[in-house]
Amino acid sequence: MTKQDFPIRTRRLILRDICADDYDDVHEYATDEAVARFMDWGPNTPEQTRDVIARWLAQQAEIVRLTMNLAIEHADQGKVIGSIRLSYQGGRTADLGYSLHSAYWRQGYMTEAAEALLELGFGTFGLRRIWASCDVRNVGSYGVMEKLGMRREGTLREDIEVKGRWRDTHLYAVLAQEWASRWAI
Ligand SMILES: CC(C)(COP(=O)(O)OP(=O)(O)OC[C@H]1O[C@@H](n2cnc3c(N)ncnc32)[C@H](O)[C@@H]1OP(=O)(O)O)[C@@H](O)C(=O)NCCC(=O)NCCS
Repeated sequence: MTKQDFPIRTRRLILRDICADDYDDVHEYATDEAVARFMDWGPNTPEQTRDVIARWLAQQAEIVRLTMNLAIEHADQGKVIGSIRLSYQGGRTADLGYSLHSAYWRQGYMTEAAEALLELGFGTFGLRRIWASCDVRNVGSYGVMEKLGMRREGTLREDIEVKGRWRDTHLYAVLAQEWASRWAI
């Protein structure tokens, strides 16, 4: 990916590189227990938020960016309300991950952001397959995946340990040809 690919503008959002000034906005949602509930991080301490921003800044500086963590900025409010990630996994595949400030849930924001990233992944980067996974209890997360037209490929039993508990995980994916024909009847 190149500098020309960013920022990505959607109807209500700007997906862009993070900057150090975004600390307050990121820390606001990263300290929210509801946001962190199914994540392998958080609620964050100030140091943890500083560390994650430093990691994103370092990734942005890489010549070949294999992991792309983007800030989700609310275009009208000029506020960072979440983040979305596309990570290259080899073989022209990538996985998708996201989190959003809870005050903005259920308004279609993550579907809007993720749709733009899938379009970038398939359209611009020529990926073959994009997948995402979540805790089986995370209805909101797989709701986004299903709204995007991703298929549930299966459920992995107790595959990873998150916050001291072995979690069951739904795996979803979409192939390039499925994405291209998603509006066809
Ligand atoms: C998961 C998350 C990103 C969803 O973001 P969002 O912007 O609220 O999602 P959308 O509004 O685009 O919802 C898309 C669909 O998912 C489903 N959905 C979303 N949130 C839901 C919820 N809390 N309960 C039930 N269904 C939900 C709905 O079907 C919804 O479509 P609809 O509103 O037209 O019915 C957000 O809840 C979040 O950040 N959670 C905490 C972090 C997290 O769990 N990230 C994913 C880790 S795998």
